[in-house]
Amino acid sequence: MSKPIYVTEPSLPPLEEFIPYLKRIWDNKWLTNNGEFHQEFETRLAEYLGVKYVSLFTNGMIALQVGMQALRITGEVITTPFTFVATPHAIHWNNCQPVFCDIEPETFTMDPDKVEALITPRTTAIMPVHVYGNPCCNGELKQIADTYGLKLFYDAAHGFGVKKDGVSVCNWGDLSMLSFHATKVFNTFEGGALVTNDEKMKSRIDFLKNFGFADEVTVVAPGSNGKMDEFRAAYGLLQLERVDGEIVKRKRVAEHYRQALKEVPGIQILHDQVGIQHNYAYFPVRIHAEQYGMSRDGLYDRLKERNIMSRRYFYPLCSDFPTYRSLPSAMPSNLPVATKIAQEILCLPMFADLREEMQQLIINEIYVHAK
Ligand SMILES: Cc1ncc(COP(=O)(O)O)c(C=O)c1O
Repeated sequence: MSKPIYVTEPSLPPLEEFIPYLKRIWDNKWLTNNGEFHQEFETRLAEYLGVKYVSLFTNGMIALQVGMQALRITGEVITTPFTFVATPHAIHWNNCQPVFCDIEPETFTMDPDKVEALITPRTTAIMPVHVYGNPCCNGELKQIADTYGLKLFYDAAHGFGVKKDGVSVCNWGDLSMLSFHATKVFNTFEGGALVTNDEKMKSRIDFLKNFGFADEVTVVAPGSNGKMDEFRAAYGLLQLERVDGEIVKRKRVAEHYRQALKEVPGIQILHDQVGIQHNYAYFPVRIHAEQYGMSRDGLYDRLKERNIMSRRYFYPLCSDFPTYRSLPSAMPSNLPVATKIAQEILCLPMFADLREEMQQLIINEIYVHAK
């Protein structure tokens, strides 16, 4: 059998380009705690994203948890069930309760028209997700947050490089979290960041990600350990030089899929939105079983038999996991759009170096089962 085609494959810089960075780390013997690569990477990332401040983290999950502490979020937090479990888990780890809001059928992001009905006296924040890199409806969400005095904290794990009208989505809300996990458009093996335009918030985050230390003898809060080390910060600097080229390659893969699949009945493709610079992080399609002639799970299995590893992102919904399913907002009848899409969604392999002949195998397999 041929080698598996995975849903994603990380892009790595040439090893020889990384060696001088390693040599410098070995010479300096400064491995973590705000070293020179850490500082430079924060500055360069802020420039790249067009934001004032970036705080690097060891991964996106810790960044989410610390961000909630930094914003002093308590009680109930309105979020989406159509996300990776890290989003509600971060809420849970902060002793808060996730309240699930249904999503929009076009972009799969939180439906702002359904948020207000979920607000109670215990609500302190909204945590939407730019799922697949599709920007949320920031205008409406910000207006609700401002009206009700709520924090707006974006899970932008998928949003690296995404811009609306030329501005990074990381500028939105009180805070945004990025993930640099190996599966993301921009990876540092593991890694993440919090992004803010508020100087005081940046320093509070930096204390909290380092056990709460403000200086050698002052601990201002029960912080965590979320610091990124020098190895990954150096690697991130190298990756930053390449990421625009990676996104261009991903766009080519997306366009080829769109062109090839547009005539297949029952396969619904997402298109680029006007005014949005996308990052092509994922290639989700909706399978309408009646028209296509096979269910999403059927196609997933057939692809797997051919060693093509698609993923049912995001299925099951977070609201269906045992930790959350007894919450009143988790009832499927409250989440009709998310419930339907979770049954139909399939993410096809998408990465910068997906070769055309490999992509053709995937496309052929999808055609074979069409009505
Ligand atoms: C939407 C979302 N939020 C949070 C995370 C957590 O990020 P990390 O894996 O860097 O901890 C991820 C991905 O892994 C994610 O997809």
